[in-house]
Amino acid sequence: MLGLRLELMVLMVAEVIALRYYRAVRDGSGDRLASEVAGRILADERRHVPFHRDRLRESFRPLPAVVRAGVRPAWWTLMLGACAVVVWDHGSALRRFGVPRAVFAADVAGLFAAVTGEVFGAGEAGTLTPPPGAPGGRRAVHGGGSPPGGAGGRA
Ligand SMILES: [Fe+2]
Repeated sequence: MLGLRLELMVLMVAEVIALRYYRAVRDGSGDRLASEVAGRILADERRHVPFHRDRLRESFRPLPAVVRAGVRPAWWTLMLGACAVVVWDHGSALRRFGVPRAVFAADVAGLFAAVTGEVFGAGEAGTLTPPPGAPGGRRAVHGGGSPPGGAGGRA
């Protein structure tokens, strides 16, 4: 059985990819119902990321720096592999949603860089926080973009 830390690391990869994917569906499907459903899923996923981040941050903090330094590139490798599969398998759908493969991959990498920075960073976590109305947090989870038809921040 996988340890909780590894399970959360794997889940985080899925969460980060989902953030960008459901944003693409929400903003680019052209279907009101699909957009609404994707928006709700996206809002739900945004609450998961800070939770996983906080748990992983706590979990990695006591480990030696050399261990953390080794885990980080392995985690990136997992994420890049998963992202490549999604980009390959869902590339035509992403393109229909107005998100070219390269843009999707770059956005996911940016999100994941923020996550890993906060999980392994020496400072206080703060970039990836729960949405307004949820407990805790100061700043927005990236990956939400603007709501359909609207400008501004994330939900
Ligand atoms: Fe989730």
